[in-house]
Amino acid sequence: MNMKGRHFLTLLDYTKEEIEHLLDLAIKMKKGEVKKDLKGKSLAMLFQKSSTRTRVSFEVGMTQLEGHALFMDMGTTQLGRGETIGDTAQTLSRYVDGIMARLYKHSDAEELAKHATVPVINALTDLYHPCQTMADMMTVMEKKGKIAGLKVVFFGDCGFNMFNSTAIGFSKMGADVVACCPDHPNYSLNEKVMEKAREGATGKISVEHGPMEAAEGADIIMTDTWVSMGQDSEKAKRLQELRPYQVDARIMAKAKPDAIFMHCLPAHRGEEMSADVIDGKQSVVFDEAENRLHAQKAIMAELMG
Ligand code: CP
Repeated sequence: MNMKGRHFLTLLDYTKEEIEHLLDLAIKMKKGEVKKDLKGKSLAMLFQKSSTRTRVSFEVGMTQLEGHALFMDMGTTQLGRGETIGDTAQTLSRYVDGIMARLYKHSDAEELAKHATVPVINALTDLYHPCQTMADMMTVMEKKGKIAGLKVVFFGDCGFNMFNSTAIGFSKMGADVVACCPDHPNYSLNEKVMEKAREGATGKISVEHGPMEAAEGADIIMTDTWVSMGQDSEKAKRLQELRPYQVDARIMAKAKPDAIFMHCLPAHRGEEMSADVIDGKQSVVFDEAENRLHAQKAIMAELMG
């Protein structure tokens, strides 16, 4: 399977077979069964927003692949002073072999990809977080041995990047994805994205507003922060409106006894989940964080190798 030179902006652009290939490769590379390298290659890492996991996992990933990664932010590049995304993409493409970008607007990631002649990897936009979902699916493969047939329930804001990528990725791989969110336009599904997700899905994508009903029989309980970067002015309102959707011990008790709890991190104990859930035995949040490294190494090796 040849993916060389392709962008990685959304899992909508990848088939089930391609995702399976990347997950299989990531698991084999993690176990040391397959070795890949990007010797002498460079990755530009462009950040409009803060990061802990994304920055470190991409940078360490490039080091482990024997390549090099460069951190770039708005404050110390000409992008922050108005240079266009198109000119930046063309310039960077003359130096590096891949561009990783964390941007506010997905349209800016598309603009970057339009002008870049090297692969552009989306490291989070308002619409998608495909690298996180790859790490999540890899974690589920390790914990459950499969994705198809599982019930994944996502609690909280289901109109945003993490739910979108979860719905696209997991339903494509055959899981049933349930959005458990308030019956309010601020938290409801992005129907344009869901329409595309359903086209490639072999599992179902549905909505259930009742938290206890949604959690019934779940294999995976997932949530994300209630106040994403750029939403600080709405914090008090969001905390109040999403409060009934906190994942706590009662929710976990409704799921299957061997259900796992997932969160892409950073987490806010007492908000989107209680401390006993994220720090409890069913939580796999640090496996997900570790798997960012392995999943992204596989993606970079295939796209930039
Ligand atoms: N999950 C995630 O993307 O983490 P960071 O914001 O720390 O990169």
